[in-house]
Parts: sequence; structure tokens; C-alpha cells
Amino acid sequence: MSENESASENDNERERERESDTDEDLLVVEDLRKSFGGIRALEGVSLSVGPGITGLIGPNGAGKTTLFNCVTGAIPPDGGTVRFDGGDITDDRPARVAERGLVRTFQIPRELSGMTVRENLLLGPPDQYGERLTGALRRGERFGDDERRAREQVAELAEFFELGSVIDEPAGNLSGGQRKLLELARALLTDPDLLLLDEPIAGVNPTLEGRILDRLHDLTERGYAFLIVEHDIDVIMEHCERVIVMHQGQTLTAGSPEAVRSDERVIEAYLGGEAE
Ligand SMILES: Nc1ncnc2c1ncn2[C@@H]1O[C@H](COP(=O)(O)OP(=O)(O)OP(=O)(O)O)[C@@H](O)[C@H]1O
Ligand SMILES: [Mg+2]
Repeated sequence: MSENESASENDNERERERESDTDEDLLVVEDLRKSFGGIRALEGVSLSVGPGITGLIGPNGAGKTTLFNCVTGAIPPDGGTVRFDGGDITDDRPARVAERGLVRTFQIPRELSGMTVRENLLLGPPDQYGERLTGALRRGERFGDDERRAREQVAELAEFFELGSVIDEPAGNLSGGQRKLLELARALLTDPDLLLLDEPIAGVNPTLEGRILDRLHDLTERGYAFLIVEHDIDVIMEHCERVIVMHQGQTLTAGSPEAVRSDERVIEAYLGGEAE
């Protein structure tokens, strides 16, 4: 086959993949690649994410965090494409990606530790507070001027994530779990359509963990979608409609929790040495 023919074969292949993406897919990643020196962190990852809560699992070093970094523009991929809500965002910077409605949290929270919880939350510009978030918190109640509205919404948001009692504490004094919650709250303030959450409940106590997951379900009913990296497989299986499995920089499989749980390749990837 000539080079041209093989290129057009590839195009056809891409076309078929595109056709197989449903209208509901928000995020579509195709053949994403990223190396760090000799380490090939992403070796051609293709996946799509629709509404609701999608789980992203895989052994340590599978490339989950690197995927988040590349998809949100934090680091440039070496190759491949990222489309969000129908538009190509492969080369967009993080601020632009966030504006389009795709926002991520970090495996290690990045709150401003010298500022209080309230101050951290007030950093979100008031004109970005979305209708849906206001609705989720207060069922549509309207506030007065922007400043008051911002302060009230921040207080509501803190309550929503059980941070009300520490709202005037410096963020640096919070427990690991509380810092995760603060980061999640801050991410929500930009009113994203899809949130990429990197281990949002790691270090959170089980009671609070259950409440956070309930909150995420509430938020999906208001149109937010989530892609969650989480090592606790039971949590993923219980709360996600769909699960994507990464292994050694590639997508191993994707499907319903039941299908993924019984997939031999998944079992092997987890038993294959790279312990959780
Ligand atoms: N900035 C970097 N420089 C060099 N290597 C990196 C860098 N970031 C990631 N890697 C490597 O890329 C691979 C994928 O790492 P990544 O952090 O994406 O995995 P992960 O699936 O998030 O793992 P974990 O479950 O432990 O968080 C690993 O081999 C890691 O060591
Ligand atoms: Mg990671």
C-alpha cells in the first residue's frame, strides 16, 4: 500500500470513529500521545466521555493524571486530538479550556493555604457563578447585588461541601479530605459542563465520602458531568454509569461497571504487579 493510501485508510478509520461517537459525547480524545524523555506516559489514548459520572481507573502510572494534564491544556500532548463539546481544544491553554466548560481538579489540591476557605472561594469571579449552581444550592432564589450574592453563594457552597464550620480557617489548616472538598467547590464555581476529578475522595473519611458522591449525583441532575479518577474500585463500580480503564498509557477497555469488572484484561492489569 502506498503512503497516500495508508494515510487515507487512517482518515477513513478516524471518520468511522467519529461517526461512532454519539451526540451525547462531551469529550472525545483520539490517539493522544505524551512522552517524558524515555517514558511513554500516553501511547495513543482514545476515549469519549458523555453525561453523568464516568469512572477512570487503572494501576499507578497508567497515565490518568497525564491524560488530565494533556486534555486540559496544562501540558501539550505530542500528538492526537482533544475535542470538547464539538470543538477542537487540542492546542487551547487551560484558561480557554475552562472557559469552554472543561475544568479539572488536582491529585494534590492546590488551594491557597495562607487564605481562608471563604477567601479561596471568593476568588471565583461572581459573573461566572452559573445559574445551575445557584439552582442546585438555592433552587433558583435570587440575590441582590453581585457582592452580596457572591458572599452568600460562597457560604452556601461551603455548607454544601460541609466546610461551613471551617469557612474562616486558613486553608492550610484543613485536613487532606477538606482540602479536596475545597478544591472541588472552587472548580464548581467556574460552572463547568464537565469536571475532571483526580482522586476527589482520597483521604476523605467514609461518611463524608458518601455525602460527596451523593452531591455529585445531585449535580449530574442539574447537567454537570464528571470524569473521576479513583483507586477504590468499589466506589467506582457503585457510582459510575460507565468506566474507562487505562493501562500502560492506553485505554484497555470501557463499558458498564459490570462488564469492566468481569473483563479478564482488567483483572490481569490489576494483578499484573503494579499494585494500587
Ligand atoms: N512530569 C513528568 N515527568 C516525567 N515523568 C512523568 C511526569 N508525569 C508523569 N510521568 C510518568 O508518566 C507515567 C504516567 O504517570 P501518571 O501520573 O499519568 O499516572 P497515573 O495513572 O495518574 O498514576 P497514579 O495512579 O499513581 O496517580 C508514569 O510512569 C510517570 O512516572
Ligand atoms: Mg495520578
